[in-house]
Amino acid sequence: MEPPTWVAYAATCLLSIALVILTNHFRRSKLNLPPGPKPWPIIGNFNLIGPLPHRSLHELSKKYGHVMMLQFGSVPVLVGSSVEMAKLFLRTYDLIFSGRPKTSAGKYTTYNYSNITWSQYGPYWRQARKMCLMELFSVKRLESYEYIREEELNSVLRGIFNTNGKTIMLKDHLTTLSLNVISRMVLGKRYLDKDDQEETIVTPEEFKLMLDELFLLNGVFNLGDWIPCIKYFDVQGYVKRMKNVGEKFDRFMEHVLDEHNARREKEKENWVPKDMVDVLLQLADDSNLEVKLERIGVKAFSQDLIAGGTESSAVTVEWAISELIRRPEIIAKATEELDRVIGKERWVQEKDIQNLPYIRAIAKETMRLHPVAPMLVPRMAREQVKVEGYDIPKGTVILVNTFTIQRDPNVYERPEEFRPERFIGNDIDVKGQSFELLPFGTGRRMCPGYSLGLKVIQSSLANLIHGFEWKLPDKMNPEDMNMDEIFGLSNPKKDPLTACAKPRLPHHMYHM
Ligand code: HEM
Repeated sequence: MEPPTWVAYAATCLLSIALVILTNHFRRSKLNLPPGPKPWPIIGNFNLIGPLPHRSLHELSKKYGHVMMLQFGSVPVLVGSSVEMAKLFLRTYDLIFSGRPKTSAGKYTTYNYSNITWSQYGPYWRQARKMCLMELFSVKRLESYEYIREEELNSVLRGIFNTNGKTIMLKDHLTTLSLNVISRMVLGKRYLDKDDQEETIVTPEEFKLMLDELFLLNGVFNLGDWIPCIKYFDVQGYVKRMKNVGEKFDRFMEHVLDEHNARREKEKENWVPKDMVDVLLQLADDSNLEVKLERIGVKAFSQDLIAGGTESSAVTVEWAISELIRRPEIIAKATEELDRVIGKERWVQEKDIQNLPYIRAIAKETMRLHPVAPMLVPRMAREQVKVEGYDIPKGTVILVNTFTIQRDPNVYERPEEFRPERFIGNDIDVKGQSFELLPFGTGRRMCPGYSLGLKVIQSSLANLIHGFEWKLPDKMNPEDMNMDEIFGLSNPKKDPLTACAKPRLPHHMYHM
């Protein structure tokens, strides 16, 4: 009698798993791998990774050192946790480590890896980076959008003034600010306003939820990406959610592209590109491009810019005000600088930031303690390579734990303290030259939007401090504040900051 088919399936499954374990074991034992905890069959070292993976890696690196090898499921993961390792991974071996792992998030939420963040190193990605440098984020283009950033910031400052000192959830105002700035720069209008003339494609609330979901799903550890034998079971339900949010974004992006094309057809030879989607659609027509930019690419890049540009600056500014509200002496120094350099009869403009070293130091200190991407975005080794005498197999996922580097007591004195003064009188910067502070990463995969991100962070932070005295709601003490973070692709505060804002400037200043 034939054995039942499920027995045959189970036997084949077990045999395959045993084969994978044995092959991995023999492959690993032939290589000189960096130190690290012994992996379990199937799950590897997942048992050692808690809900905040950067903190788990921080603890593990204390035991295994600044270069360590873990195994997530069947995938080797190399973790660098010192300035020296960051230099090796992101400068010496930058070219080899410029791949990205093929995650389900990249597949289902970003048009099958067609965006910039998840596309593989190669001509398509190189061309995308060239477009960022020459077109999307050129100094001229960013300057031409300064009026948008100023208008939107003014609108938020006015909105906070109108709350009359009531308790507000600061993050809501900050997300509205960055969402409006980025959607006007990328899509040409707010899109999220309710418009009587047109049907609303998504409400602001829906859109914010879509973005939160996109961010969360691009940062989660989806077990199926690491343990191939459970890939199709979607045990955590993430893949279903990824497909869902991917479809919602696609409906939105289709609408955006149709509208842009319609204006172009209507205006014919008088048409000039007004926003980044226009620029991308124009590039898509360019027959001289090395790799043709298809409609899908335009949608994927635009979505990447919206996602990259929205959450990160709002999260950073929320952390900054949360730190400051607990430290009146730092606020006093910052307002002294603002009153001296700017005065009480005007707001801070972007060009003023160069004259406000203490405000810049507060922004750096915030990004040091609360990096938006505490392990950067995972990279992948495109070839086998030797690092410090260790063998790093092709396909290894590369993590640079900037969370640990930026809290290294050998680099920063009293690293757990929020002390902006540490950045006064030295040239440590966030632009990829100082390996002790890498909030935007460095090397080939460094954040292409860093100058825009910095502008938004510094000018909104400066004006929030200039325009308002910040207090915690009644009955809440600074010691009661929960400064924990939650994990995702950005690293937001677990309990959003609630605070009250009292105007600092003459009242006529808020009627702009
Ligand atoms: C506070 C602001 C921001 C922070 C802290 C930040 C941080 C980062 C980090 C750490 C990376 C990964 C670097 C690496 O892999 O080594 C990254 C990549 C990226 N960022 Fe940003 N970012 C910010 C703002 C922006 C803005 C405003 C945009 C666009 C509008 C943007 C678009 C991107 C893109 C497209 C990538 C992928 C680059 C690639 O893979 O080649 N980011 N960002």
